[in-house]
Amino acid sequence: MEQTRGRFTGPPLTPRTAVIWSVLRAELDRRGDAELTVLDVGGGTGGFAVPLAQAGHHVTVVDASPDALAALTRRAAEAGVADRVRAVQGDGDALAGLVEPAGVDLVLCHAVLEVVDDPESVVAALATALRPGGAASVLLASRTAAVLGRAMNGHLDVAAALAADPAGTAGARDTLRRRYDADGATALLRGAGLVVEEIHGVRVLADLLPAAVADGQPGALVELERALAGRPPYRDLAAQLHLFARRPA
Ligand SMILES: C[S@@+](CC[C@H](N)C(=O)[O-])C[C@H]1O[C@@H](n2cnc3c(N)ncnc32)[C@H](O)[C@@H]1O
Repeated sequence: MEQTRGRFTGPPLTPRTAVIWSVLRAELDRRGDAELTVLDVGGGTGGFAVPLAQAGHHVTVVDASPDALAALTRRAAEAGVADRVRAVQGDGDALAGLVEPAGVDLVLCHAVLEVVDDPESVVAALATALRPGGAASVLLASRTAAVLGRAMNGHLDVAAALAADPAGTAGARDTLRRRYDADGATALLRGAGLVVEEIHGVRVLADLLPAAVADGQPGALVELERALAGRPPYRDLAAQLHLFARRPA
């Protein structure tokens, strides 16, 4: 990982992570040399938690999967940051009972609100965990991309179901329980008292390109993803939406 304390550059950028790391890096730069308390809900194997710990921050990962947490613990040890990464097995839906209120500077909740029982109460718990002035990084599946993707693969019935369903799911066999658009995602966070500061699309193009193009020009693809991420209508075609929000100070 490229890293210097106080000027965090993060891990190598990919189309899947570049835009999110750009937003997080700006927040870390804003906080200067402070050692932040970070909470990663559904943080899995530590793709974000471990680089943040390597940058000197203290990260608690709450995840439902013991296997993911075991991989996280191994990865943190291999990176030499076991003392700055805490793995907690728990359900995002029960977060309020797992985390002290107003103790966290930065909360991550990436690709999790689509699968929990009650996203509103999870977001309320995220907001409660934040210190006043603390920030939330939330990544959500986009309904628009899912509809286009299913249609382009020839599954027109599934695309129609996804487009018509109020929650943006294609029924019992769908792996996700809901998907969002920018307005719905904004309303979700606002409902918990968070102020949305930035919205970006993640993987505007990456999932649409032939593998030969994506693999053949990785640097150019990352740059194009970053250029398009904040610009509707490109933003709204992305596979995921990234919202950066803050608890008012
Ligand atoms: C799609 S992965 C995302 C992992 C990571 N946040 C990322 O973006 O790379 C979803 C993660 O959420 C966890 N998860 C799913 N349901 C959960 C729940 N109800 N409470 C806590 N974690 C959950 C899974 O175990 C998994 O690690």
